[in-house]
Amino acid sequence: MHSVLFKVEGNHRLPPTTLSPGDMVCVRTCDSKGAVTTACMQGFVDNLGDDGCTISVALESLHGDPTFSKLFGKSVRIDRFQGLADALTYERNCEALILLQKNGLCKNNPSISIVATLFGHREDVEWLEKNHVVDWEEENLNGLLGNETNDNSQQRTIALGLNKKRPVLVIQGPPGTGKTGILKHLIACAVQQGERVLVTAPTNAAVDNMVEKLSNVGLNIVRVGNPARISKTVSSKSLGDIVNAKLVPFREECERKKSDLRKDLSHCLKDDSLAAGIRQLLKQLGKSLKKKEKQTISEVLSNAQVVLATNTGAADPLIRRLDTFDLVVIDEAGQAIEPSCWIPILQGKRCILAGDQCQLAPVILSRKAFEGGLGISLLERATTLHEGVLTTRLTTQYRMNDAISSWASKEMYGGLLKSSETVFSHLLVDSPFVKVLFLINEISIFIEVKDSINVHYILF
Ligand SMILES: Nc1ncnc2c1ncn2[C@@H]1O[C@H](COP(=O)(O)OP(=O)(O)O)[C@@H](O)[C@H]1O
Ligand SMILES: [Mg+2]
Repeated sequence: MHSVLFKVEGNHRLPPTTLSPGDMVCVRTCDSKGAVTTACMQGFVDNLGDDGCTISVALESLHGDPTFSKLFGKSVRIDRFQGLADALTYERNCEALILLQKNGLCKNNPSISIVATLFGHREDVEWLEKNHVVDWEEENLNGLLGNETNDNSQQRTIALGLNKKRPVLVIQGPPGTGKTGILKHLIACAVQQGERVLVTAPTNAAVDNMVEKLSNVGLNIVRVGNPARISKTVSSKSLGDIVNAKLVPFREECERKKSDLRKDLSHCLKDDSLAAGIRQLLKQLGKSLKKKEKQTISEVLSNAQVVLATNTGAADPLIRRLDTFDLVVIDEAGQAIEPSCWIPILQGKRCILAGDQCQLAPVILSRKAFEGGLGISLLERATTLHEGVLTTRLTTQYRMNDAISSWASKEMYGGLLKSSETVFSHLLVDSPFVKVLFLINEISIFIEVKDSINVHYILF
């Protein structure tokens, strides 16, 4: 991929657009009326300039193809592929269901105990228990955790999640109960015990949140996904950035050799056979760079202790090609449709789902799909199975003032949600990051309201 900057001529500005970074687009040259004159070049919007005059697009360039010179000085039109991105997601979800149906209960499927647990009857699970294939107990932590301030139910959750014989653990908890933090500790301990982990979430933002949390734990982590959708704050952990950094010396060496060969080429214009030989060498250099790139990608991914992607991103052939993961972790699983969870789950031996079915549920636009059961997430479905043996609940929250949480507790969590003393009377003005412009003595609730352009906050 190469980022190409397009600029509007003169003092003009780009026409109003709903394009945003990460959108899949087609770039074509056109005449003054916008009629297309070349075939489509596929890419992703990288950035829209603040000045309203520029747009940069990450374009696929073919080997040895002078792709960008074709665009230089020409009028271009950039169209979004709306349907294609959705079609890819749809295809990946369908593919996961087909795999599940075909291989789910095959003996050589590494995730067979997950499938058996999530689709089997109580007797099936009893059979697995009796034959010591599965076990629901806590693992002995043996001082694995450091000085972290986890409460008892959080420690228990980590101990349950580390049991390698537990095929499924559902960590259920209202906002601020420490689910994501627990996943971080769990993943770190699992890696310490020699496991390789695939971490996913339904959205790029939730994946990047995990990347950020895991960045300072000293693990070898790699974030896979569309570069334009990965937050800049964690891009140093992205596959692209890691591979590029490793390739710097090789690229420099290639560039040096290329420039020497080009010099030689300029001296032998009259000798056709020599020139052809040099051109051949130049071509080979390009090829060896591509080969080295592929090799480095596969090295980086196979050496990673933790690979992170969105649920559908986990269908990337680069991830699929890797050895089976020991553990698959899905954060914000309450927001994901069940088929998308099976994409990562079928690539692991056991899985942990964290989330809250009382928060944002999967968005289902089709009535038929909703009535067919897609409105219920795997997380929600799993909590109702096998008399709750798959689930552990967290009920102490560490994020908000009790006045806010007790409302949620009463309305949504049957009065079970409690507030930690550390935040019980916490006000915004107590936060070191809040600059006080006017003092709020009362508890205030902000409601976020979005119209098509702006986000407004209404203060109660
Ligand atoms: N045992 C704990 N003691 C103190 N703070 C905690 C504890 N557990 C979680 N927190 C804090 O609570 C906040 C919310 O944690 P997070 O893992 O994001 O929750 P969730 O994913 O459930 O919404 C974080 O700021 C975290 O540091
Ligand atoms: Mg969270």
